[in-house]
Amino acid sequence: MVISFGSINMDLVVRCDRAPDQGETIVSTGWLTNPGGKGANQAVQAARLRAETVLVGRVGSDAFGRDVMNGLSAYGVDVGRVMVDPVLPTGVACILVERGGENRIVVVPGANGAVGAAELKTLDSLLQPGVVLLLQCEIPFGIVREAARVAHLRGATVILDPSPWGSLILTPGVFADVDYLMPNEGEARALAGTTDLNKAAAVLLGLGARTVVVKRGEKGVFAVGAFESPDVPAFSVPSVDTTAAGDSFQGAFAASLDLGFDLDTALCRAMAAGALTVTRPGAQQSMPDEAEVTEFLEARLRTGEYSPKQQI
Ligand code: RIB
Repeated sequence: MVISFGSINMDLVVRCDRAPDQGETIVSTGWLTNPGGKGANQAVQAARLRAETVLVGRVGSDAFGRDVMNGLSAYGVDVGRVMVDPVLPTGVACILVERGGENRIVVVPGANGAVGAAELKTLDSLLQPGVVLLLQCEIPFGIVREAARVAHLRGATVILDPSPWGSLILTPGVFADVDYLMPNEGEARALAGTTDLNKAAAVLLGLGARTVVVKRGEKGVFAVGAFESPDVPAFSVPSVDTTAAGDSFQGAFAASLDLGFDLDTALCRAMAAGALTVTRPGAQQSMPDEAEVTEFLEARLRTGEYSPKQQI
């Protein structure tokens, strides 16, 4: 089972040729609303790859909350434990997507900011050895740490996406309960305080993470620590919208572990899911299902772009 413990948002997306400068007004090329939130997105990707997936989090008692919950259920995510906050609104993310697909995101936490003891109790009731737990940092960081601690004690595999990185409070051993820490390269540099990515990964390992997987977008990923994979190249795809590509990566990696794939194959499947997500607009609506990932990898196998160490 995969559990995603984290944020649920409604994304308000504005497309533009480029982000405006300070004090500048520009005209958009289009907009959309679509369900998002790193916790919810990662759950959707895991469910789309056929892992039994439960989401633990909180929405507001409002139209956005009802819409995102309906969408999550339709994707096969078990939302039976998501709480409805009677006061706070559903979280919102304002997203600018530029012509090349790059995004800038501002999150308004709303109900995500109230995730706390009640959700930890729910998580506790679900944990058992073999569970894969997905964590992100759009809920209070103290709760994220506690979730990792309890999950680790119960024999679950803990995956942490340290985004948004500004939410983290770095103390010695802060990642001691994290099996896979998965920053993108900007987050790795910011958290470690160095521009050298190898040094950054070493610093993050020094803070307790067992394995650090650095996501480098079109430059691929590398993993260091208990599991090492020095250079996994990215699949070349046209970039329409990079929003949630990292979530797709994490959700697919978690699902692949849950389904019994070895780590090298899990990384390749995660790369494929992330690549496909980049080719479509939006967050959850852009995430591929199992058939698409398998077909994509088989096609790249034929062209020689993918050479698995193991069977897909
Ligand atoms: O990672 C992408 C997500 O970040 C968006 O869906 C948005 O809601 C923010 O949480």
